[in-house]
Amino acid sequence: MEIRFLLFLSFSAFFLMDATTAQMPGFVSLDCGGNDTFTDDLGLEWTPDDQLLYGETTTISVANQTGKQYMTLRHFPADARKYCYTLNVTTRTRYLVRATFLYGNFDNNNVYPKFDISLGATHWATIVISDANTIEVQELIFLASDPSISVCLSNATTGQPFISTLELRQFNGSIYLTQYENQYYLSVSARINFGADSEAPVRYPDDPFDRIWESDSVKRANYLVDVAAGTEKVSTRMPIDVNNGERPPQKVMQTAVVGRNGSLTYRMNLDGFPGSGWAFTYFAEIEDLAPNKTRKFRLVLPGMPDLSKPAVNIEENAQGKYRLYEPGFYNISLPFVLSFRFGKTSDSSMGPLLNAMEINKYVKKNDGSLDGSVIASVVSVYSSAEWAKEGGDPCLPVPWSWVLCNSDPQPRITSIKLSGKNLTGIIPSNMMKLSSLVELWLDGNSLTGSIPDFTGCADLKIIHLENNQLTGALPSSLANLPNLRELYVQNNMLSGAVPSTLLNKNLVLNFTGNVNLSKGRSGGSNNKIIIGSSVGAAVLLIATISSCFLLQKGKKKYPKQDQLELPLPAQRLVSSLGSAAAEAAHCFILSEIEDATKNFEKKIGSGGFGVVYYGKLKDGKEIAVKVLTSNSYQGKREFSNEVTLLSRIHHRNLVQFLGYCQEEGKSILVYEFMHNGTLKEHLYGPLTCERGINWIRRLEIAEDAGKGIEYLHTGCVPSIIHRDLKTSNILLDKNMRAKVSDFGLSKLAVDGASHVSSIVRGTVGYLDPEYYISQQLTEKSDIYSFGVILLELISGQEAISNESFGVNCRNIVQWAKLHIESGDIQGIIDPSLCGKYDIQSMWKIAEKALMCVQPHGSMRPSMSEVIKEIQDAISIERGAEAAREGNSDDISRMSMHSSLNTGSMDLGAARLV
Ligand SMILES: *[C@@H]1O[C@H](CO)[C@@H](O)[C@H](O)[C@H]1NC(C)=O
Ligand SMILES: *[C@@H]1O[C@H](CO)[C@@H](O)[C@H](O)[C@H]1NC(C)=O
Ligand SMILES: *[C@@H]1O[C@H](CO)[C@@H](O)[C@H](O)[C@H]1NC(C)=O
Ligand SMILES: *[C@@H]1O[C@H](CO)[C@@H](O)[C@H](O)[C@H]1NC(C)=O
Ligand SMILES: *[C@@H]1O[C@H](CO)[C@@H](O)[C@H](O)[C@H]1NC(C)=O
Ligand SMILES: *[C@@H]1O[C@H](CO)[C@@H](O)[C@H](O)[C@H]1NC(C)=O
Ligand SMILES: *[C@@H]1O[C@H](CO)[C@@H](O)[C@H](O)[C@H]1NC(C)=O
Repeated sequence: MEIRFLLFLSFSAFFLMDATTAQMPGFVSLDCGGNDTFTDDLGLEWTPDDQLLYGETTTISVANQTGKQYMTLRHFPADARKYCYTLNVTTRTRYLVRATFLYGNFDNNNVYPKFDISLGATHWATIVISDANTIEVQELIFLASDPSISVCLSNATTGQPFISTLELRQFNGSIYLTQYENQYYLSVSARINFGADSEAPVRYPDDPFDRIWESDSVKRANYLVDVAAGTEKVSTRMPIDVNNGERPPQKVMQTAVVGRNGSLTYRMNLDGFPGSGWAFTYFAEIEDLAPNKTRKFRLVLPGMPDLSKPAVNIEENAQGKYRLYEPGFYNISLPFVLSFRFGKTSDSSMGPLLNAMEINKYVKKNDGSLDGSVIASVVSVYSSAEWAKEGGDPCLPVPWSWVLCNSDPQPRITSIKLSGKNLTGIIPSNMMKLSSLVELWLDGNSLTGSIPDFTGCADLKIIHLENNQLTGALPSSLANLPNLRELYVQNNMLSGAVPSTLLNKNLVLNFTGNVNLSKGRSGGSNNKIIIGSSVGAAVLLIATISSCFLLQKGKKKYPKQDQLELPLPAQRLVSSLGSAAAEAAHCFILSEIEDATKNFEKKIGSGGFGVVYYGKLKDGKEIAVKVLTSNSYQGKREFSNEVTLLSRIHHRNLVQFLGYCQEEGKSILVYEFMHNGTLKEHLYGPLTCERGINWIRRLEIAEDAGKGIEYLHTGCVPSIIHRDLKTSNILLDKNMRAKVSDFGLSKLAVDGASHVSSIVRGTVGYLDPEYYISQQLTEKSDIYSFGVILLELISGQEAISNESFGVNCRNIVQWAKLHIESGDIQGIIDPSLCGKYDIQSMWKIAEKALMCVQPHGSMRPSMSEVIKEIQDAISIERGAEAAREGNSDDISRMSMHSSLNTGSMDLGAARLV
């Protein structure tokens, strides 16, 4: 029997095994194409795969293959689909999954099939049949992470995919535990019993886990050739202490080969290699050596001299005869053609001995579609429908028959085609979570309920809901879908008015055959209710217009609606669908933003995320319009989702987010305009005592910004880490009160663009070095940046400078630290403060700033601790200011003087604390 082991393990959801017939817990033996249950010669219980909906069964007859499980098989059409078996498994448990294939010319074609099998989304192996009468075997070892696994056949390039048996064997120990097992499967490449007395493999019941230990006497091409002269088989009947049930079974360890001439050499092909593998050898001293004999040897692998250093002395290593010693490599790089030699050491009297060997290749797990769990919950609603039983990953290795996916490494579902599938009930709400959906075909079913909010699927282009029994209004939120081109809702039971935003949108819209749905005016009853202007009616109206509605320059055909539209606040509208009136981000129309900014005339800033323009809305409100650089939002995925999250963050000390716009490839965020620009603009440069911002104002700015950050860290769920705090992200309003800007943006860019959350974001000078090294982002990274800002407030210096900090120092942290720790706070205080500050409040901030920039996040204070310190400093400063105000002209000179004095005095005190 030819055995090619590829171990692919991953999931298992299987047909059920009748527990009473299972001889071993966790064993599943499916006889594909069989029609009854039976027990084979080994005592394994086989069950038919007759619950599989797909494929056809065939009986074959192959000489010498008398096992009943090899008299039948199941084959599948050679189409673009995948055909999956689903097996239940216990999570956090290791399994061996084995699939076998005996062609037997079942199709009378004599065309040897070639097709792929996969475990879940992971390509397991390409099955290449090269002999009609030889059983092809593939094995994977895996740690189950889900309660079921799918083994799928697909992609027949020759002939038809087929399968003879599918077996699942549960381990109970940890011999196959590796540190990589969450990311890799082990594909079995070789499992050899040396010195075997026949060609028959050792397996169940000798091996309680039914691994197949192939005999070294099997003759086939490139299998254990180049055997050294003097190689002899030895065996024993003595029991072998294998000390753990998962080690090779005793029967395997009782035989071995010995190199009488001092060497054992072999060459063999390793299926699946070259690559990284798991390779172990198993030794037990089974010869009776005279007391003056020794057996010591080394492994020699060509090109890998380092591996040859340790010498094996079986008896010594295993602490006795007839005991197992198992040296090996958890991660070794091996070639396809493996040549290896065991050679005796010069001080050894006996040649090497080898009982068994296992080599498995690491196969990288594919995590599958990012929409896997969402679509699984949709499918579970229709669990009895045939289309819901296709199994495996929705996208990989090939998509389900009713799904299309994009080609991302972790694909997203882009199209769902469930036309005429007899769907009942409401449209599953989880479909709205498929954020990359472009086409949705649910027409010709019996769907009821209302049309949901598709705002989460911003890429939707085509929606077919016609010929169902949908009720309720045609939601205006549909008009917010920037790419919507086709909307078919005819022949439902929709009612109300077609939102004018939809009518005005450039799309194919068919809503005929909805008796109670009117184009607007004629369905007067609705409008009248709205016009009735009761509070309830107003809410109703809000609920039926899109959030963009107000800004749409609608046709004047519907005067009543227009009247109502105008007074609505531009900021937030109740989204039409959320039963719990969810907040939605306001969606601006591009033309309106163009008007407001006079076609992006006045640039007021720019940064990593884009360029900011000044604008003024029709109602006079001034706005800052941030046009995101397109490359940070490629694909626009989840953009509006994230924007919706952003719009829920409100705090006095965070720049107010007013809405967004996503049109013509532009991603735009709209904020309140902050009249006094950025803190950065006010802090550096040749500022005089009159023009610079004074210390108390700086402290207030620090307090304001601190509170904004504290809110992000503790007031939002999940908490938000700003990641890019700096003086140019602290904005000042008319009254010089500060608000933090650009919060949530870095998350938007990272998650929206690449899913590579490990990209370090931030600005040089403010970037937490610990985060930079570890890439572990925590709130404490913001604290670091805030500490830098405090140092800038003290010194009026920029975070990074080539000149200001002296030789060999470009960084404000090093520079300030040096001064502060040596007691020289004066050396860093901004001269443009002109001495008007209380040195004690200055010390408080300086010391706290140093705490904030501690190298380890765990040593940095929380934002609220920092705020408390700032507030203390403010009250000290206010007291001192009042005292100064009592004086006259000499204030500046006086306080300069006194601070110099108290400075040196306080120094001691502060440093003692
Ligand atoms: C697999 O598990 C599911 C869910 O627990 C169960 O409904 C199903 O019957 C199981 N199938 C088998 C074959 O055990
Ligand atoms: C199914 O079982 C019946 C009798 O139990 C047998 O005659 C028939 O050949 C079987 N079919 C296959 C495909 O094994
Ligand atoms: C079946 O086994 C016999 C005896 O072991 C052997 O001679 C014959 O070649 C085998 N046939 C096949 C098709 O492998
Ligand atoms: C199908 O197999 C061929 C060759 O074996 C390969 O080139 C192709 O990429 C495979 N297609 C899929 C969808 O896996
Ligand atoms: C080892 O001992 C055997 C007898 O037990 C003896 O015949 C042989 O000469 C000894 N060999 C050496 C190298 O001492
Ligand atoms: C549609 O579903 C109903 C109820 O589930 C069922 O009775 C009917 O046979 C189904 N029709 C088709 C064509 O699948
Ligand atoms: C709209 O749907 C109706 C009913 O299905 C159909 O007769 C009509 O041709 C459709 N109109 C357009 C423009 O597609």
